Amino acid sequence: MSKLSVQKADVKGKKVLLRCDFNVPYDDEGNISDTRRIDESLKTINYLISNGARVIMCSHFRRPDGVYSNEFSLKKVAKCLSEKLGKNVPISSDVVGESAQSLASSLSDGDVCLLENLRFEIGEQENDIEFAKKLSSLADLYVNDAFGTCHRVHASIVGVPKFLKSYCGFLIQKEIQAISGVIENPIRPFISILGGAKVSDKIGVIANLVDKVDAFVVGGGMTYTFMNALGYQVGDSICETSKLSLAKDILSLTKEKGVKLLLPVDSKLGKEYSPNTETKIVDSDKIPNGWQGLDIGPKTIELFSEELKKAGSVLWNGTMGVSEWDAFSNGTFSLARALAKSNAKVVVGGGDTAAAVFRSGVADKMYHISTGGGSSLQFLEGKELPGLSVLPDD
Ligand code: 3PG
Repeated sequence: MSKLSVQKADVKGKKVLLRCDFNVPYDDEGNISDTRRIDESLKTINYLISNGARVIMCSHFRRPDGVYSNEFSLKKVAKCLSEKLGKNVPISSDVVGESAQSLASSLSDGDVCLLENLRFEIGEQENDIEFAKKLSSLADLYVNDAFGTCHRVHASIVGVPKFLKSYCGFLIQKEIQAISGVIENPIRPFISILGGAKVSDKIGVIANLVDKVDAFVVGGGMTYTFMNALGYQVGDSICETSKLSLAKDILSLTKEKGVKLLLPVDSKLGKEYSPNTETKIVDSDKIPNGWQGLDIGPKTIELFSEELKKAGSVLWNGTMGVSEWDAFSNGTFSLARALAKSNAKVVVGGGDTAAAVFRSGVADKMYHISTGGGSSLQFLEGKELPGLSVLPDD
């Protein structure tokens, strides 16, 4: 898949509406705790600035559902962008009203501004055509670089391209090339590591990848639904009882296709679902009642690491345990370190997994860490992303 690049646009002196995904995490003090989505957008922003465009950036932030509030303002993002770009990034006080219009029309070539949170207008998430028209009227061209939002059928993603000549930015190009490159042209053995809480969240990925990968390595909460389907007691671990037959079907399907599916052989349990709870390590078939599996155990880490050492390419989506808690992060961090030592081309997707890989200290050893959560999952499921479908092909 190749989309018409911003490099093909004549941007000099043009007002360019640049859709970014600045939906960044905040810490407890309300400061941006991870600027990666902003950093990854800089290439396109700088390209537009240096080619004399008048850049009107826009993004959503959280889900204010059409209600203006300071809590969901993009002011802190504008400040961060000003620092990173080394130039003032003014922000409008509305999305498509007088403030946005006068700011957009005040720009000179190479200037840049930011519109307030798109979701302050309900028309954004309702994909309202009038809202899309108003947003489009601020600019001459549209560039989408919001890979993390391309799975949303929202006005700034799928509505605006109906009114403006549209292109994709460098981040979208990089995401498409990295993720689809590994899926379509993997170096073998090709292994998919899947984790996270629910089997139901990953079924689409398994279905799409089962004919492509050589092995699945499965950890995280979804493990216990598989364990239970195999007849093991899982104590108080998370278990989707309504998905047991689905788990059985997956086990039979992978067997039938000769695709290896590795499950944990031991688990680190917690007495409660809490970061400071009492812990113990047991084999997978010995999880007692009153305890729950919150990470993979040491034997599993060894087993999985050995398998990953041999990998040519790896697609990783989902953590091995509750990796945001120190007591249950070892499984995820250990796999990240094992991958860092391997020669495998590793593509990481999903917000929690990406955050854990960064915390493990080996992020720079990964081939690609997607900025997408839901969007990268949908991409791995082989589904079309509405925001990409509307962009013209190259
Ligand atoms: C994300 O963080 O996954 C994207 O920014 C999309 O946000 P949303 O789930 O609120 O649409």
